[in-house]
Amino acid sequence: MSEQSNIESILTESRVFEPPQSFDERIGGAYIPSLDAYEELYKRSIESPDEFWAEVADELDWFEQWNTVCSSDFPDVKWFEGGKTNLCHNCVDRQINMGHGDDLAIIWEGEPYNGTPEIRQLTYHDLHAEVCRCANALKELGVNKGDVVTIYMGMVPELAIAVLACARIGAPHSVIFGGFSSQAIADRVEDAKSNIVITCDGSWRRGSVVPLKDNVDVATELTELIDTVLVIKRCNNDISWQEGRDVWWHDICDQQDEDCQCESMDAEDMLFLLYTSGSTGKPKGIMHTTGGYMVYTYLTSKWVFNLIPGKDQVYWCTADVGWITGHSYIIYGLLPNRVPTLMYEGAPNFPEPDRFWDIVERHKVTQFYTAPTAIRAFMKWGDEHPSKHDLSSLKVLGTVGEPINPEAWMWYREVIGNNACPIVDTWWQTETGGHMLTPLPGATPTTPGSCTRPFFGIDAAVVDDDGNEVGENEGGLLVVRKPWPSTLRGVYGDRDRFIDTYFARVDGMYLAGDSARKDERGNFWIMGRIDDVINVSGHRLGTMEVESSLVSHDSVVEAAVVGVPHEIKGTGIAAFCTLASGCQPSEELKDALRKHVGEEIGAIAKPDILKFTDALPKTRSGKIMRRLLRDVAAGTDSNQDVTTLEDFTVLAKLRDEE
Ligand code: PRX
Repeated sequence: MSEQSNIESILTESRVFEPPQSFDERIGGAYIPSLDAYEELYKRSIESPDEFWAEVADELDWFEQWNTVCSSDFPDVKWFEGGKTNLCHNCVDRQINMGHGDDLAIIWEGEPYNGTPEIRQLTYHDLHAEVCRCANALKELGVNKGDVVTIYMGMVPELAIAVLACARIGAPHSVIFGGFSSQAIADRVEDAKSNIVITCDGSWRRGSVVPLKDNVDVATELTELIDTVLVIKRCNNDISWQEGRDVWWHDICDQQDEDCQCESMDAEDMLFLLYTSGSTGKPKGIMHTTGGYMVYTYLTSKWVFNLIPGKDQVYWCTADVGWITGHSYIIYGLLPNRVPTLMYEGAPNFPEPDRFWDIVERHKVTQFYTAPTAIRAFMKWGDEHPSKHDLSSLKVLGTVGEPINPEAWMWYREVIGNNACPIVDTWWQTETGGHMLTPLPGATPTTPGSCTRPFFGIDAAVVDDDGNEVGENEGGLLVVRKPWPSTLRGVYGDRDRFIDTYFARVDGMYLAGDSARKDERGNFWIMGRIDDVINVSGHRLGTMEVESSLVSHDSVVEAAVVGVPHEIKGTGIAAFCTLASGCQPSEELKDALRKHVGEEIGAIAKPDILKFTDALPKTRSGKIMRRLLRDVAAGTDSNQDVTTLEDFTVLAKLRDEE
């Protein structure tokens, strides 16, 4: 059932860490200062959700007041109906209107490092001017309210600017992570029916240029939809240019007016689409709307990271804006909280493995949010790298994206946090828009490996297929029983898939797709996925996606892909392929297949282990026996029952290979 590698250690983990006593003082006042305060407010948020969320929404600007707070149930959830607002306004203009235009909004650091790093700092005034220019440029290029704008960029300030410009004019954005391939761009462009792509000439990664514009050029050959490509010059690498289609950002944006009125958006107007992997087919476009998402990401950012404006805090989330973490916790949840959000362009180990700690020290980062896979890599690189730096500015440490193993959790706490920083292990998903299960730094006792308790308003439970709660410490399906403001509103263009994936299996509840258990203290423990989704370095991939890309290669007839425990990535990818007649197994072919998957999906999907086999182990009904393949891939000897295997020799052969 689970792809997770460290369940056993988690199951025996019982250390409890109270929030460090000094936290309240160090942070300048915890919003939720005790477990009792959490429990009292949680109860209220569940019993009177409308009242609770209306109070939060009142902290932000609305052009027109909503009529109802939450007016419907799953699957067609609606929040703040009748309300009109604009999220870009709340991120930027609202701060200026309150007299904080000169405060820092974004701190950006580029990857190249020749003695001094390249740094850009944007105040809310700066951001306003840049966003308005970009918004006006998009209008000039023919983008109207409701048109989907595709964004495929490196981590440069213009990425945040472009996202906010889209929100300003009511054009939903679809951001594609810069590590994805041309085919992946074309697929998403086709699905979203998007005509414009914003990109960069290239982006820096470990000292090399990732040729983003070249990738978009290839995508324009794979789909006819793209008629405009807006290009930011970042790396000055050679690119080809098509007049009439390609437009330089500086040519068009620099000449625009510095003012652009915000569109008045209905609370339920689409804010963005973000593609994510599921168990079947191509990635699906998860839809988020304006009002509820705004309110939820604002509050979770504020309370989970204890953001306090005007206290010299600097918040840094190391994710890429291409993922939901970057949407919610670099841009949309952060800017309304008026704590500067730091964006870093490049790799954690460039030019040296201490780059992150160098950034923390120089910018005096107070809240730091990263993924377990990164923490495991830092552990491996050695304590000497963080030890070289003064990390005493840090006050809250966060993790996201995959289960964290207790060893990594402890290392994070001791070596990075000097035992003085609460760790917030946040469980959530692209679909949930914001944090769902998470400690609150001043309130929640934590245990390594547990994402602890539900956030306010989140009615999470572990249930069986009938929706009944299972017993203490028993594994079951993780569900949410009531809508929350940033619930996904749909799968773009595919209502059936939306219903089937999230609302069909357990009646009336949102099915997360994870298995979990709840312990005697009410803490949740994520055990792994219940579907064919694997989590590679905190990035979500469907095993079917990788299988389809393998069989699209001429030499492969059939492929099965499973997750395999991986020291750094958490889960690695193991692929088993049967070859077409006449094709011989070879190292060259393995390399060619890995490269092929890289081209079809992106480098993150390249199999770590690739085995050729005469046949795949199947049950008599023809179902591939994945648990056996997982065992083979993990190199463990299986004691499992194999009587349903069609051909016993297949398993033996698979084991013997390599
Ligand atoms: O399996 C869970 C895992 O990541 C999945 C969601 O992936 P994605 O939509 O790409 O969003 C990742 C960033 C929010 C979940 O279904 N996951 C995420 N956070 C955690 C986690 N597993 C365990 N602990 C977490 N903190």
